[in-house]
Amino acid sequence: KKIVLAYSGGLDTSAIIPWLKENYGCEVVAFAADVGQGDEELEGLHEKAIASGASECHIVDLKEEFVSEYIFPTITTGAVYEGEYLLGTSMARPVIAKAQVEIARKVGADALCHGCTGKGNDQVRFESTFAALAPDLTVIAPWREWDMVSREDLLAYLAERNIPTTASATKIYSRDANAWHISHEGGELEDPWQEPTKQVWTMTVDPEDAPDTPERVTLSFNEGKLTHVDGEALSPYQALVKLNTVAAAHGVGRIDIVENRLVGMKSRGCYETPGGTVLLKAYKALETMVLDKAALKYREQIGLEFSHVMYDGRWFTALNDALLAGAASFAKKVTGDIVVKLYKGQATVTQRRSPNSLYSEDFATFGADDVYDQKHAEGFIRLFSLSSRIEALKKQGEQ
Ligand code: ARG
Ligand code: SIN
Repeated sequence: KKIVLAYSGGLDTSAIIPWLKENYGCEVVAFAADVGQGDEELEGLHEKAIASGASECHIVDLKEEFVSEYIFPTITTGAVYEGEYLLGTSMARPVIAKAQVEIARKVGADALCHGCTGKGNDQVRFESTFAALAPDLTVIAPWREWDMVSREDLLAYLAERNIPTTASATKIYSRDANAWHISHEGGELEDPWQEPTKQVWTMTVDPEDAPDTPERVTLSFNEGKLTHVDGEALSPYQALVKLNTVAAAHGVGRIDIVENRLVGMKSRGCYETPGGTVLLKAYKALETMVLDKAALKYREQIGLEFSHVMYDGRWFTALNDALLAGAASFAKKVTGDIVVKLYKGQATVTQRRSPNSLYSEDFATFGADDVYDQKHAEGFIRLFSLSSRIEALKKQGEQ
C-alpha cells in the first residue's frame, strides 16, 4: 500500500504523514508543488518530509505550467468570482492535483491524500480533479476522519512521536500563496466587522505608505497572451513576477471580501493579487478596443460562468473546455499595448493601442467629421424604439 500526499511542510500535512502510516499501515510519498509560493515555504521541504516519516519526497516545479496553462486561459475568460475574487487559490488546485496524480502513477500508488478541511472549497477542487484523472485511486481526507481539532492537538500528536516541527501553537491566519496571490482567512478576520490589522497583509505595501510618485507599466499582448512588460520579452511566469514586484510596491491588488463557499457557508477573506490586478485590468482594457458590443457582452457572460467553473473546481469538465474555447476565439484579437498607472493602491489604464483596434477617431470625434451622417440616426432610433411607440399609442387610444 502506497499513498501520495499533497504535502506543504505545514503543521497539518506534517501530522498527516505519521497518521496515515499508523491508520492505513502504508508507505507515504510526499508530493509538493512549486506554484511560485516562494522560497521560505519550499526550503528544507525534502528533509522535513523525510523527518516526518515520508519514504520519498517529490517537489515538482509547476510555475510556468500554472501561469501559462491555467492563469492565462482564465484571464481570457475575464473571470472574477462574485465580482471581486481573482481566483488565485482556485486556479492552483487543478494543476497541483494533476501533478499529484502523475506522481501517484509514477510510484505506483493506490491512494491520494490531501490536507484540506471538510469545510472548504479546496477539498472539492482536489477531489474533483482526482475523480476526473484517477477514478481508480482511493482518496483519503484526514481532516474528515481524525478527531484532532486544533493546532495544539496536532503539536501534541507530533511530540508524542518525537517528530520535530517548527510550527507554533498560535498561527493566526490560514494562508495560501502562489505566483498569482496570497489569501488570508481565519483569526480576527472571522469577524466581518473587524477591520484587517496591518499584520494580515504580507505581499503588498500598505497603500497609505506607498510612494507619492506614480509609476507606469506597459503590458504588451499577442493574441491574448502577455508577452512583454515594459518592452522586455518574458515568459508567462517571469512576466507575472515582474508585475507583482512593481504593483506590490504601490499597494495595488488588496481586497477584503465575504464570499460564498461551494459547501454553503460564507467566509471572509483578504487577498493580495498585485500583478494579477494589473494584468486583468490591462487585458480587459485591450478587449474594449478590439471586441464589438455583442462580442464583449458574450465574453462577459463567459467570464461569469467561468468564474463558477473555476471556483467550484470543475476544470476537468466539458463545460470548462467549451468556455475556454469560446474565450480563446475572442482572445485571438487581443493584441496590442496597454499602459497602466500605479498610484497608492490604484491601477488605472491611461493608454491603449492595437493593430486590431475597432476604435475610430474619425467616427467618434465630437468635432467635424465626413464619415458619419447624423441624419441616419433618426431612422435608426425610430425603428429601435418602434415597439415602445406602438405600445404607447395603444395606451393613448384607450384613454
Ligand atoms: N477562499 C479562497 C478560495 O476558496 C481561498 C482558500 C484558501 N485555501 C487555503 N487552503 N488556505 O479559493
Ligand atoms: C480548507 O478548508 O482546507 C481551506 C479553505 C477552503 O478550502 O475553502
